[in-house]
Amino acid sequence: MSLPVKQLLSEEQLRAGVTRLSREISQHAQGRPLMIVGVLTGSVVLLADLIRLLDIPLRVGLVQASSYRGTATTPGELTINAELLPDVRGQDVVVIDDIFDTGHTLVGIMAQLESLGARSVRSAVLLRKAERCEVDLAPDYVGFDIPNLFVVGYGLDYNDHYRNLPYVATLDEDEL
Ligand code: IMP
Ligand code: MG
Repeated sequence: MSLPVKQLLSEEQLRAGVTRLSREISQHAQGRPLMIVGVLTGSVVLLADLIRLLDIPLRVGLVQASSYRGTATTPGELTINAELLPDVRGQDVVVIDDIFDTGHTLVGIMAQLESLGARSVRSAVLLRKAERCEVDLAPDYVGFDIPNLFVVGYGLDYNDHYRNLPYVATLDEDEL
């Protein structure tokens, strides 16, 4: 698969953005250990880079979220698989995702973590398409606000391709 892509965020920009996220997250942690929860599969590149910049005690967990897109009139249904998640009871959790689009995925996962007994739940995303937001929640940490374009790379995919691009690129809409 090799459709034309156009670079939106360079490796240097991504490194600076992820470094800023790591500083904000460690400052808020105030010395308490964190449970960093990555949302599969899009967060894996960010997760790997971010945790190596966090010089604080932390544990790592994973959740899988799949949303079966509905039609234009029915919302997609979100399924959360928490089998890979360690015990979060009493933990200060930071959920990590690649992109905040409508926000439904993050809202669902944060509610699940709260119902599992987390002490606090914050969220960090690499990218946000602010104009697409459909929920009453803002991520606590945002790497970059981007326009409403379909993007790939640095973990983000189109049909599971392009996750390995070291930069973030837009895919030509006409090719989708
Ligand atoms: P939300 O529930 O609408 O916020 O959707 C978030 C999920 O949709 C992300 O974790 C991505 O998997 C996917 N997604 C949304 N926009 C894009 C994009 O531009 N490129 C790739 N995946 C996207
Ligand atoms: Mg995803």
